[in-house]
Amino acid sequence: MKPIKVGLLGIGTVGSGTFNVLKRNREEITRRAGRDIQIAMVADLNTARAKELTNGECEIVNDANLVVNHPDIDIVIELIGGYGIAKDLVLKAIANGKHVVTANKALLAMHGNEIFKAAQEKGVMVAFEAAVAGGIPIIKALREGLTANRIEWIAGIINGTTNFILSEMRDKGLDFDVVLKEAQRLGYAEADPTFDIEGVDAAHKATIMSAIAFGIPVQFDKAHVEGITKLQATDIRYAEQLGYRIKLLGIAKRTPKGIELRVHPTLIPAKRLIANVEGAMNAVLVQGDAVGATLYYGKGAGSEPTASAVIADLVDITRLATADPEHRVPHLAFQPDAMTDTPILPM
Ligand code: HSE
Repeated sequence: MKPIKVGLLGIGTVGSGTFNVLKRNREEITRRAGRDIQIAMVADLNTARAKELTNGECEIVNDANLVVNHPDIDIVIELIGGYGIAKDLVLKAIANGKHVVTANKALLAMHGNEIFKAAQEKGVMVAFEAAVAGGIPIIKALREGLTANRIEWIAGIINGTTNFILSEMRDKGLDFDVVLKEAQRLGYAEADPTFDIEGVDAAHKATIMSAIAFGIPVQFDKAHVEGITKLQATDIRYAEQLGYRIKLLGIAKRTPKGIELRVHPTLIPAKRLIANVEGAMNAVLVQGDAVGATLYYGKGAGSEPTASAVIADLVDITRLATADPEHRVPHLAFQPDAMTDTPILPM
């Protein structure tokens, strides 16, 4: 069978990780996907760097439109970020009948409803495992592993930068600004780090999880969002003395009146597993009515951990596009016409 052809938009940290892991594990990935997955085109403004990173193995262009309009491309991976150009490109790719893999939580939290509607109408798939908690397969867990459950609540450390800051402030007594700079240096922080420290990034991710868990549209505008900028070293110290840790949690909770969707610093008893998630690691607790509490832990950012999630989506799409075109959309996308109208409560 001929390879499935992929166009990559943006070859930065995650894009280069995706290229490298696909190459390194090509044999296993091809076996699992049932078909060779080939990155045929890469669009990046820095074409010289893109050529170097891909060893001249793909066509490099500096205009992403050439990728989303190219007739040979089956799947577009969007790793540009933000919701300006990225949104236009994703919608163009869908309109051109291409499946989309994206790590762009901001785009999905703000414009997911429009994107999923367009994908459903066109009969293509939009997959986004890498958008929430990096390498942790939490979307798959919610969508597939826990599909028998009525999800009661989700509570997660879903922003590595803030968890890193809180951990370093507590362990090393370092100042907020010093640790933030280090998180930026290590590549954890968003291009605009206020998204991390003000809780916006965590709220994007919690919004996406709430939509899948509760079958509701994405409604970022209804989330209560509070970051860690008002916390002081003394808060962290006092919490410690009282037997608690402070963590920035993203919470989505079903109540009889509606859904609570909130991000804020939370006191957690120090003996709880989630209180001991340190550094830039992520962890997500999901409570289902049948399974009870489940906990997912791993790297929420970084080149190859995030690439791991991107490639999982590529494999999923390849399998479904190859084997089962009629039933593929519900597997991966939100189903805009099968959503409940359970409200998100004002907080
Ligand atoms: N800025 C994000 C974080 C990157 O710190 O978790 C991964 O989404």
